[in-house]
Formats: sequence, structure tokens, C-alpha cells
Amino acid sequence: MKHRTFQGEVYQQQGDVYLNDGRENALLHFAYNHPKIERMRGNPKKVLEAIDEYARTQKSLMNIGPYKARTAAGGMRYFSLEINPEFGAVISMLVDLAGLRDIVTVVIGASSDSLKRLHSEGKLGRIDLLFLDHYKPAYTMDLKLCEELGLVGPGSVYVADNVVKPGNPPYLEYVSSTVEQKRRSSRNADRATLKGNPNLLYETEFIEGWEPSSEPDALEIARCIRVEE
Ligand SMILES: C[S@@+](CC[C@H](N)C(=O)[O-])C[C@H]1O[C@@H](n2cnc3c(N)ncnc32)[C@H](O)[C@@H]1O
Repeated sequence: MKHRTFQGEVYQQQGDVYLNDGRENALLHFAYNHPKIERMRGNPKKVLEAIDEYARTQKSLMNIGPYKARTAAGGMRYFSLEINPEFGAVISMLVDLAGLRDIVTVVIGASSDSLKRLHSEGKLGRIDLLFLDHYKPAYTMDLKLCEELGLVGPGSVYVADNVVKPGNPPYLEYVSSTVEQKRRSSRNADRATLKGNPNLLYETEFIEGWEPSSEPDALEIARCIRVEE
């Protein structure tokens, strides 16, 4: 898909300060005081519509928006890894409102720590879909960590957001490298560097779209297609 015209309903302009100025709590009050609150209870679509309404009429949000929502549809069990406990509390209450408490677990902490802990506690096995939308330099490290822990393998799909704005060249390079290239760089890496599993081969797809603020951006979808021995 090429950048043609943005066809969604545009969010408020992002501006220089675009989070953590009280808007996350304000969103929660907006949702729970919404005139359609009773219709939102247990209805994820209606909760998303209210989030979008807040972002269109009040303040821009980094929410999942119409494009990302499509990538996250379906599934049996979700872990939402969030470093900021206040944001985590907001997420939990919106998940609760949507009636998804039984399938979504919000885990507070740095994603790498949470991944290690969930794995060591036996709570996280194979990841079918990994949605990366946090601290951009952490995408590659978290993916390599998942590879090393055996959390991903053939059949796993990763969706990485914001690969144009602000961009993430190291991540794009890693998922599009051949097994040979990855083996070579892992041989040359120092001991402190995460090596991942260089034997995993990915097929990638670059999907151009828009931020809900109508600025161009893209998702990179990587599918693990096989292990090369
Ligand atoms: C761009 S927002 C996206 C949030 C969500 N995916 C969405 O679309 O609404 C990035 C989020 O990642 C969180 N974050 C940043 N670094 C993190 C880390 N190392 N581990 C977990 N969460 C992190 C931030 O607090 C912020 O809530």
C-alpha cells in the first residue's frame, strides 16, 4: 500500500508534548463518563471508538488506532508490557471496561525484564504475535531475547510500528538479514551483546499507512518461516 490519502478521521495534532501531561487519566474519565458508557461495557469496538473520539476531539493519543487494531484482532491471550505504572493502570481499566480482563494481562516493568520473568515463571510459552510499539532501540534487543528464550520460532509473526517515523534501521536490518549474515555478526559480537537465534529466517513485508494524526508511517511485518540448521 502506498501513501495516497489518509482516509480515517484525523486526530488532534500531536505537538511537542504528546503524552504524560495528564491526558491518559483524562481519557479514562472521558471513557467512564461517556454518554454511551453502558453500551461500551464488554464491547471492545465501542471502547476503541471512544478512545478515537477522545483523540479526535480532545488531545492526540498514541493509541492503537484503526490500522493497528486490525493487526491485533483475534487471539486467545495477550500480555501488555508497559513500563509506566500509571499508563498500565489506565490500560487495565480500559481493558476491564471492554470486558477483556480474562484474556489481557497488563504487566508493569521494562519489556525485557517482563519477558524474562514471564518466561521463567512459565507464564509465557510460544508467542504467535509480537507487537512492538515501545522504546525504538529496544525492538531488536527484545526480539533477540525472545529468540534466545525460545519464545518465537517458525509461525511467529512480529508487527513493528513506527518504522518510518521515527524509523528503526537496526531492527529492519536484523529481520531482513540472511541466516549467514546473522551468524557472521553474532560470531563477531562481543560477549555482552545479545545474539538472538541467527538460525531463524524471516520473510518481511513493509506496510505503509498513516498515524491517526495523518502523518505517513509504516509497519514492518516479519514472519518466521523456518530454522536453518
Ligand atoms: C508509542 S506508546 C504505544 C503504546 C501502545 N502500543 C499504543 O499503541 O497505544 C509506547 C509505550 O511504550 C512504553 N514503553 C517505553 N519503553 C518501554 C519499555 N522498555 N518497556 C515497556 N514499555 C515501554 C511507554 O511508556 C508507552 O506507553
